[in-house]
Amino acid sequence: MKVDLSGVLSGELDRIRKEYEEAKSAGDMDLARQKARNVADLLRQMAQSTPARQTYFNKIAVKWEAIAEGRPVPHPATSGYTATESSGDSVDEEEGFRNKADSLITKSDVTWNDIGGLERVKRLMMETVVIAGLQKPAAIKPWKGVLLFGPPGTGKTLLASAAAGSLQATFYDVKSESVLSKYFGESSKLISALYDSARDHAPSIVFIDEFDALSQARGDNTSEATRKVLSSILTHLDGLQDKKSDRLLLTLAATNTPWELDTAVLSRFPRRIYVTLPDKDACAEIMAIHMKELDVKKLDLPVLAEECVERRYSGRDLQNLCQQAMWHMIHDKNQNLHKLAELPFADLQKRKLKVRPLQREDFDEAFDRIHSPVTKADLKRFDKWNETYGEV
Ligand SMILES: Nc1ncnc2c1ncn2[C@@H]1O[C@H](COP(=O)(O)OP(=O)(O)O)[C@@H](O)[C@H]1O
Ligand SMILES: [Mg+2]
Repeated sequence: MKVDLSGVLSGELDRIRKEYEEAKSAGDMDLARQKARNVADLLRQMAQSTPARQTYFNKIAVKWEAIAEGRPVPHPATSGYTATESSGDSVDEEEGFRNKADSLITKSDVTWNDIGGLERVKRLMMETVVIAGLQKPAAIKPWKGVLLFGPPGTGKTLLASAAAGSLQATFYDVKSESVLSKYFGESSKLISALYDSARDHAPSIVFIDEFDALSQARGDNTSEATRKVLSSILTHLDGLQDKKSDRLLLTLAATNTPWELDTAVLSRFPRRIYVTLPDKDACAEIMAIHMKELDVKKLDLPVLAEECVERRYSGRDLQNLCQQAMWHMIHDKNQNLHKLAELPFADLQKRKLKVRPLQREDFDEAFDRIHSPVTKADLKRFDKWNETYGEV
């Protein structure tokens, strides 16, 4: 059995690092190098005993080895070298990015059964995941990057979560917009830390939402940072740094505007899956998912579904539709619901919400309120893009 020594060792690490700093500021370079060597050895040991941080510890160890041998220190974010010697600071900085990257890990309990319709898309996604896991001839390479594109609310995030949930993979939920704005200028360091973390926690799925935000905005002052992040992601996708190919590390990117991606980006995402608006059967399935445990026998689901298709509703629109219909029913059956707010919570928990079977009238108002943002012209554009660039 492996014992987690990381706590003990990291205390030791802090101590030796301090001794290194002291020797350095006292001008005793021989001692400083010796201490740097001790730090490096300890980091290698920590890498061995903590698989979840293996890549990370080894990477910092390389830096300390360079210090010990008086060589230039590799810079954390780039493959180039900086002239100045790295002190404890940049190691701390790297630790900071690593922690931020780790904080993007979310747990996914979503399963394929939570997704209505999208049979073909689900099959393609399952195939992608299975191929990555199976033993196979060396020439057959699993997909590393998959692009999910389609109108908003069609289930792209849901599909990525289901892939992670079914594999029990570590799921990194990355929103391009927030990574760019929050860590402006340093986002590419975060991306590096992210992929290190993902490698350590494999099997991992890195989900990059709003992917178009990374290739847009060319020309204005965000473009430099944006380009760096994008190229950092693409480098990791190429997987040159990923020698242990037996670890599953899948990058899923989602976009509502695939035509904004340039060909260099597209070439790194050879598998591009069109997540369409739901057809009639899919609408019925999605509604059933979002009205679980309610009596829907009085409803003519196929007729409702037909109407949803005509209105170009997405999965999200359908969810909202069902929610509003349910609220209509709840208000109908529980006239003075708000008055119960006077009761202590423990008393509330003993009572039951009154429900009745859902009926067509519950949907009337909801239909009036929910408008799909997708136009016929949009759909044509998706279809056309799909014909040219869609799934292989
Ligand atoms: N195919 C679907 N089946 C069930 N629910 C769906 C489906 N598509 C969308 N939804 C609902 O709408 C919500 C938003 O979907 P999401 O996956 O975020 O869409 P996208 O990422 O494509 O914009 C989901 O959390 C889910 O509740
Ligand atoms: Mg989404």
